[in-house]
Amino acid sequence: MIKDLWYKNAVIYSVHVGTYMDSNADGIGDFEGLARRLDYLHGLGVTCIWLGPFQKSPRRDDGYDISDFYQVDPCFGTLGDFVEFTNQAEQRGIRVMIDLVVNHTSDQHPWFQEARRDPASKFRDFYVWSDKKPENADEGMVFPGVQKTTWTRDPVAGKYYFHRFYDFQPDLNTENPLVLAEIRKIMGFWLELGVCGFRMDAMPFVISTKGPQPRHRLRYDMLRSFREFLQWRRGDAIILAEANVEPKNNLHYFGEDGDRLQMMFNFWVNQRVFYALATADIKPLVKALEQTRDRPDNAQWAHFLRNHDELDLGRLTEEQRQAVFDDMGPDKDMQLYNRGIRRRLGPMLRGDWRRLEMAYSLLFTLPGSPVIRYGDELGMGDDLTLPERNCARTPMQWSTEPLAGFTRSSKPVLPVIEQGPYGFHKINAADQRRDASSLLNWTERIIRMRKEVPEIGWGDFKVLDTGNDGVLALRYDWRNNAVVTIHNLRNESTEIQIRLADEKGRQLVNLLTQDHSQAHGRGVHTIVMEPYGYHWYRVGGLGYLLERSNE
Ligand code: NOJ
Ligand code: CA
Repeated sequence: MIKDLWYKNAVIYSVHVGTYMDSNADGIGDFEGLARRLDYLHGLGVTCIWLGPFQKSPRRDDGYDISDFYQVDPCFGTLGDFVEFTNQAEQRGIRVMIDLVVNHTSDQHPWFQEARRDPASKFRDFYVWSDKKPENADEGMVFPGVQKTTWTRDPVAGKYYFHRFYDFQPDLNTENPLVLAEIRKIMGFWLELGVCGFRMDAMPFVISTKGPQPRHRLRYDMLRSFREFLQWRRGDAIILAEANVEPKNNLHYFGEDGDRLQMMFNFWVNQRVFYALATADIKPLVKALEQTRDRPDNAQWAHFLRNHDELDLGRLTEEQRQAVFDDMGPDKDMQLYNRGIRRRLGPMLRGDWRRLEMAYSLLFTLPGSPVIRYGDELGMGDDLTLPERNCARTPMQWSTEPLAGFTRSSKPVLPVIEQGPYGFHKINAADQRRDASSLLNWTERIIRMRKEVPEIGWGDFKVLDTGNDGVLALRYDWRNNAVVTIHNLRNESTEIQIRLADEKGRQLVNLLTQDHSQAHGRGVHTIVMEPYGYHWYRVGGLGYLLERSNE
């Protein structure tokens, strides 16, 4: 039974267990530590936790290289600790979604070990082989600059194997029905242990045909079979896909009739949000919102600002990308894979809290469900001395205690940020909790407000004309209720006019301050927007609702 389309209005919090909270002083965050922090997350108001990979792994790609899909890596605890954690989350009404990394395995996975050793093994065909190095082997790398090829020779097999990502991540052959059966089994296993669904890693690559031939097809039909399996096992479980694709393909992923994936990250909008933040030009963002408007009623976008990877700007024009680089990642060292920025949100917005609040407020009012990243609720920074994406994966800063209260060991799994404006003496949860005007308390308030405005998740949006390319105004309508949200991306105040044609649109009740607005003329509101200002209004307000019910 589908109880509710809970994901239409979820507030998702992304966390890696290893860098959140260490309970046993070995320097590595663990499930016991994470479970102890559930009250913090409950207080913040998030409704779903997305857990990065925690299964057994050599951890050469932060766990996205799994060597046993059915084990918790011992450094994080046991399966028992995991179930305690999901149970305690459930007690607080928080769902737990986990990464499902089945495009590839670690090269240490017994399947791969077996496959390379024994040509007769059923596991040989779990992977993708070629006798010769294919002609296009040096194309299509996901990590250009670090990764040299997508085909590497395995001396044991005497053949080349395909790896879309690093060479220690051989791709699974998802055309093999035995592999698909394993994927279902893995999903079924974790569902039994209490998860509400999966963030499916590298989705377009999972469904692609693979092999030395130059042309490949996408097997979209696979998506429906994943969904069916999931829903047979647990009606309200979902798949949230990592699929950085062009808008014309969105419906292939969601399914025209909403019979494929429930959720996808909206990378298309994400890149244009950053362009808008960098240049205060909302035009490409507005276009992107229109281009990604189409989706089945039961499907939802996941919107985000930063995640655990680099900010991928690969789908902007050269000029647009350069504009974002210039503003937010000018040094080569801040950039990655020729396409992105590897920093955290705080430093990208130069630690300007007005801008951070505005950026977050914008995120929370985009048509979909918001996904936030641990530490961003504090404005945490990055450590650019760490390689690749690790710079934005440093441990959570809990307090001013040694090593930010993350661990009592002197050897944290990744360095804790100590120096400078983002060091834990300056930025930590304990201090911000006591300060009513902190980003942490602000985030808590905006999450509460987002939950009170279900129109954003359920409704239809309209972009309102403000006559100003630096100000985005959206209106959402759902079940006779409406809200209007306005964001000023410029660092200067401005006066805008918006027109709401309907009668109830004469009154706009501000949900965040006392500053309401009354229309003049034919439904025109004149509104002053502060530098980086953001306003959320309920159309008609409570008064209007009361009047209607007296009729
Ligand atoms: C996408 C993940 O987000 C990234 O962190 C990882 O390196 C690749 N997929 C490979 O699994
Ligand atoms: Ca530990």
